[in-house]
Amino acid sequence: MKQSLYDITSNVEVMPGVYLMWLEAPDIASHAYPGQFITVCCGGLILRRPFSVHRVSFLSSPSTGEDLGEGGIAILFKVVGEGTFWLAQQQAGNKIDVLGPLGRGFDIASDSKNLLLVGGGIGIAPLIFLAQYASPQYQVTLIHGASTAAQIYPFSSLRAEALSIAKGQRSNLSPLPEKVQFIPVTEDGTLGRKGMVTDILPDFLNWADQICACGPLDMYKAMSLTLNPSPLKGKGKGEGEKRSNLRCQVSLEVRMGCGIGACRSCTINTRHDLKQVCRDGPVFELNDILWQEVRI
Ligand SMILES: Cc1cc2nc3c(=O)[nH]c(=O)nc-3n(C[C@H](O)[C@H](O)[C@H](O)COP(=O)(O)OP(=O)(O)OC[C@H]3O[C@@H](n4cnc5c(N)ncnc54)[C@H](O)[C@@H]3O)c2cc1C
Ligand code: FES
Repeated sequence: MKQSLYDITSNVEVMPGVYLMWLEAPDIASHAYPGQFITVCCGGLILRRPFSVHRVSFLSSPSTGEDLGEGGIAILFKVVGEGTFWLAQQQAGNKIDVLGPLGRGFDIASDSKNLLLVGGGIGIAPLIFLAQYASPQYQVTLIHGASTAAQIYPFSSLRAEALSIAKGQRSNLSPLPEKVQFIPVTEDGTLGRKGMVTDILPDFLNWADQICACGPLDMYKAMSLTLNPSPLKGKGKGEGEKRSNLRCQVSLEVRMGCGIGACRSCTINTRHDLKQVCRDGPVFELNDILWQEVRI
């Protein structure tokens, strides 16, 4: 973990009210793991704001492809209040105070082959890094749910942008490896399948060996019901067994104070005692969470 001032290399509105900010932060890029986060000092606000590491990239020699040791990280953030509004105003060339990488990320089991990533809204943020990280070794399907087409992660325009930036010099600038299967879901049906991500989740339960998710609390509660159906609800035996054995990890976005395990403001109660989301998470096993006690 390191705290430092880092240069903003770009800050662009990629969806209405959602910004993609790249920072030149080689030490964070080389240590970050999918699901970890950074905290950012936003103008004069006392509390730093947490954001998932959304992507990492490394600079390589155009002639030899050799890693030149310079790396960048990106955050994808939605403007919801004072801190994110300030962040959205920042421009390339400005410096911001960043601390990270923090927390524990997703844990992929060594015997998993098929990885299902489920993102609700801005919860797509850490899953792009996870897809980037996991796709060479695992079969990855990424479901992204949003209210409407404009809120679905704009892969095609970001891929075109990646191709136009210093061709061949930056690795990992393209947001999603070609072999990742991407499934958009919109509530109004303007792109992809119509409905909520949790409506189509059952279609993938026999395929997936493991699920990693990031999204709102209601999405997790619905997932918990789908993955742990009541025995009284008469599901087929085989299907029920497959679902309840399926490992599912979720990233919790609770309000944080310090982000480093010192203030206890992010404490939640789990089946394994009290945990601090910033230090013991933000990624937890879905079945360890006592949902009725989580306040976000
Ligand atoms: C581990 C972690 C990773 C996160 N990653 C991302 C990310 O990648 N992209 C992103 O856009 N946001 C992310 N968030 C949420 C982000 O930190 C908040 O949106 C941000 O702190 C809001 O700051 P603000 O000053 O703009 O809003 P505030 O003025 O602090 O709050 C404005 C509104 O946002 C709500 N809010 C504030 N913080 C949170 C929170 N932690 N979770 C849910 N609602 C909140 C408040 O209840 C309030 O309604 C993450 C949060 C955590 C804990
Ligand atoms: S935010 Fe301070 S202990 Fe987690």
